[in-house]
Amino acid sequence: MARQFFVGGNFKMNGTIQSIKEIVQRLNDAKFDPNTEVVISPPSLYLLITREHLRSGIEVAAQNVFDKPNGAFTGEISVDQLKDSNITWTILGHSERRVILQETDQFIASKTKFALDGGIGVILCVGETLEQREAGKTNEVVLSQLKAVADQVKDWSKIVVAYEPVWAIGTGKVATTEQAQAVHAAIREWLSKELGGETAEKTRIIYGGSVSEKNCKELAKEKDIDGFLVGGASLKPAFVDILNAKQ
Ligand code: G3P
Repeated sequence: MARQFFVGGNFKMNGTIQSIKEIVQRLNDAKFDPNTEVVISPPSLYLLITREHLRSGIEVAAQNVFDKPNGAFTGEISVDQLKDSNITWTILGHSERRVILQETDQFIASKTKFALDGGIGVILCVGETLEQREAGKTNEVVLSQLKAVADQVKDWSKIVVAYEPVWAIGTGKVATTEQAQAVHAAIREWLSKELGGETAEKTRIIYGGSVSEKNCKELAKEKDIDGFLVGGASLKPAFVDILNAKQ
């Protein structure tokens, strides 16, 4: 069975009430491939207005969630609160959190388990730095980030893996189709070995890092690229072209 193409828009710490309403309106009006699953991820402050104004059929993701139930955790958001607000996905493991906020593989794995157990889908980001790539360690780094999650989570049916090479994020320097496909294929092979052929066949592996309306169609042709996690371009009208990358 073919994997459903998946495109996420990660707004990161960008936007205002006004600009997010405009993006939502654009998506509500847009004509895009009904076979593409679309999820947008505004900053937490704007999750509710996004959900309130966005048409059904497009889902909303948080950019993070905590691995404890409701309680005394200042500044955090719980899985229950996401569910209460009709937020069905969360991004976890983004390199900006791994690097700037020093989140460890284990913490990300624990949050992934907590989200999935509570019924929230996870867009799980992995990726190597330029230094790690140049040292020939790309697969080693990416697969060890995934292994930390596989140690805690056996059911990957609600995980979408986002391969985001750190050197390609926000730099305009997109991975070549060959570079991206090679890592995606390595991830799929690893999934097959660790979690079985069916999980490997069904898990969407999407690419993130300077995806634009110009490069998305070429990337989308690769057999193991099942969609995109889009940063900067998700705030622009060009996002709609990226949703149609498969057409
Ligand atoms: O999560 C998406 C991301 O990190 C890529 O950002 O701005 O390079 O598309 P950007």
